[in-house]
Amino acid sequence: MSAAPDLAKGGGLDVKAALALRAAEVEACLAGCLRGRDIPERLLASMEYSLHAGGKRLRPALLLSFARLSAGTGTGLGRRILPFAAALELIHTYSLIHDDLPAMDDDDLRRGKPSNHRQFDEATAILAGDGLLTEAFTLMLSCVEEGHVPAERVVRAAQAVAVAAGAGGMVGGQALDMEYTARAGVGFEELRGMHAMKTGALITVACVAGAVLAGAQLPEVHRAREYGRAVGQAFQIADDILDVTGDTKTLGKPAGSDERQGKTTYPSLLGLPESRRLAGERADAAVRSLEPFAGPEADFLRALARYIVERVS
Ligand code: IPE
Ligand code: IPE
Ligand code: MG
Ligand code: MG
Ligand code: MG
Repeated sequence: MSAAPDLAKGGGLDVKAALALRAAEVEACLAGCLRGRDIPERLLASMEYSLHAGGKRLRPALLLSFARLSAGTGTGLGRRILPFAAALELIHTYSLIHDDLPAMDDDDLRRGKPSNHRQFDEATAILAGDGLLTEAFTLMLSCVEEGHVPAERVVRAAQAVAVAAGAGGMVGGQALDMEYTARAGVGFEELRGMHAMKTGALITVACVAGAVLAGAQLPEVHRAREYGRAVGQAFQIADDILDVTGDTKTLGKPAGSDERQGKTTYPSLLGLPESRRLAGERADAAVRSLEPFAGPEADFLRALARYIVERVS
């Protein structure tokens, strides 16, 4: 595996810098990943517009980190699974393009720029999302073609991604989000379940796929899943809190969108203090799931879980 990026800074861990280092690795792969295909010009422009608009690249970073946690350093695996990690960002970006559409959250700003359908048009935005989702599988499976990673691992990881992104995962969660937006009296269990699907599933599979691609044993895969579930919950609670407390410029997306749409969220159901407490509790659970692990990747993952909730405390 290629050496893990240097995380030490002043003896501590600068988690933002560590995340940015991983994002930069992924960025290099994203830069050319849609080139060399016969994609019509306007569709390609639309796909690249959203893909290259920034973003934290959290899901690919999680995948790379869990792979390194399981495989150790010096194997070169990080470089070989980069297309797989980048593919998660294509799926995530597609979900954001569709999430912003007038028929869904109807938001005009994303990653600090006009939403895809505002910059292009609705049909192009829908198709850009479809294109990104499908191209993601080409990218994932390219790891087999080039003999970079054992085929059996790639297929298992890609299957897990398909399930997580699909109708019983992220897409299903988005469907529940739409259903709940139109009705009153959404309860806590419903909200928690919807979060686990719409956001938790992709974050969890990023962690699991990293472990699977590294050839981790089952107990390690279970810990990756546990961490992903907890971080996924903390992440969406934090996102709901930021919608209330954040400002549009910093968020790069419209603050107050949830209230405007009449969404049931953690803050709307439980209030801000209880939402913050629950986010913190989920981050603690994520940290606990990594108890057996030591070293720079485990330290990064622990710091990342804390960072997600520190942003909203
Ligand atoms: C936003 O995800 C959508 C949610 C699932 C809450 P991110 O906060 O990871 O968005 P980017 O990729 O950094 O723009
Ligand atoms: C979106 O949740 C989850 C996705 C699957 C895209 P949100 O609707 O809260 O995400 P933002 O706040 O628009 O980024
Ligand atoms: Mg939404
Ligand atoms: Mg939204
Ligand atoms: Mg949100």
